[in-house]
Amino acid sequence: MDKIIIEGGVPLKGTIEISGAKNAALPIIAATLLTEEKCVIKNVPALRDVFTMLKILRSLGVKAQMDGDRVTVEPKKYKRYIADYKFVSTMRASICVLGPLLAKMKQAKVSMPGGCVIGQRPVDLHLKGLRALGANIKIEHGYIVASAKKLRGKNIFLGGAYGSSVLATSNVLMSAVLAQGRTLIENAACEPEIIDLANFLIKMGAKIKGQGTPIVEIEGVKRLNGATYSVIPDRIETGTHILAAAITGGELSIKKARIDHLSALIDKLTQIGVKIKYSNNTIYVKGKASALKSMDITTLPYPGFPTDMQAQMMALSTVSDGISVLTEKIFPDRFMHVSELNRMGANIFLEGASAIVKGSKRLSGAPVMASDLRASAALILAGLVAKGKTEISRIYHLDRGYEKIEEKLMKVGAKIKRVKE
Ligand code: EPU
Repeated sequence: MDKIIIEGGVPLKGTIEISGAKNAALPIIAATLLTEEKCVIKNVPALRDVFTMLKILRSLGVKAQMDGDRVTVEPKKYKRYIADYKFVSTMRASICVLGPLLAKMKQAKVSMPGGCVIGQRPVDLHLKGLRALGANIKIEHGYIVASAKKLRGKNIFLGGAYGSSVLATSNVLMSAVLAQGRTLIENAACEPEIIDLANFLIKMGAKIKGQGTPIVEIEGVKRLNGATYSVIPDRIETGTHILAAAITGGELSIKKARIDHLSALIDKLTQIGVKIKYSNNTIYVKGKASALKSMDITTLPYPGFPTDMQAQMMALSTVSDGISVLTEKIFPDRFMHVSELNRMGANIFLEGASAIVKGSKRLSGAPVMASDLRASAALILAGLVAKGKTEISRIYHLDRGYEKIEEKLMKVGAKIKRVKE
């Protein structure tokens, strides 16, 4: 197993280029199951989760390969419809093959995802939406077993205890495009990744309106064609590198980025003293040599503050002035990074779904353990600013979501390396 070792305290300087968005690429690759024609997806990040999605497609009998950042899928007449436990247990996003398989094959058997380290991850909204379209769904031996003679468009309210759901919206959208008649998804997720998926489906011949708003309207079509499409830049990778500049008091130009997908983050950072400018798809960030101001953050569905940036913002708050409060409204248990940040000298305590952070002048490097993808990124940020050496183990989580992170950071001056444990 690999480890990351960081010698902290270097202000980062230079240019970083952002990769394609993992959470857009995964459902888009799954959506290729809706056609029999060849699809080419560009700007796909080379990440473990993407490789897992390609393995699932191959296990269904589909030809799928990746060359650089380009994925080519040739579904032809694939016959299998089972997504095995061995894939779903390593990647929850495997569930986004459920909608396309049901729509195209009229049946799907997808292993039921369990909870995970960031908390409970129910699938009731996925099932509610697909049942509304006419699917018959049972849970059998740990699998979601779905079938339908015919899917028919319907008005569906897709909201749960924590608001909208990104992947439930994706699944219902991917089924509704081939259903008979009109579907209205109310309380649809508005994340940029949903817009990207919808835009890909439209290129395949789907009829969709309202993507990016809470009401999405779909007029079913009989068949979809193949398409070539380029995935949007990863907003969470972008946000993480913005924070790398902010936390080290450095200066970075972040290329191939979309600032309009990060308004909630940019607004907070500007308030606490980070200087940010944007032109020609490049974000310029200038940190501050002295401490930034404290922050008050609540994670919410898009366009609210993203839960996928909560851990990284907490790392920044540990070296900001005064008391910060970070409240998690999407995954109330997503706080595994707290104890590891405290091992590095942070002063954080949890009160229900809020973390209260008393800013300190300096963190100190320590051996720490990554628990999930975004927690790993938070530990890297903390390591970049901490005094001395930080050793992060279990970094396989990081490889699920950040393409070449240590190479990108090294190029802008970070003293970071990957070693075999
Ligand atoms: N929820 C339900 N019922 C459902 C589905 C979700 O109650 O059927 C709840 C969840 O428990 C949570 C809330 O709804 O409280 C939102 O979860 P959502 O379904 O939107 O999460 P997701 O679609 O499974 C995606 C991202 C996550 C990201 C969340 C929230 C992908 C592959 N994953 O997950 O990304 O945190 O949306 O924005 O798109 C990550 O990249 O590190 C990551 C975890």
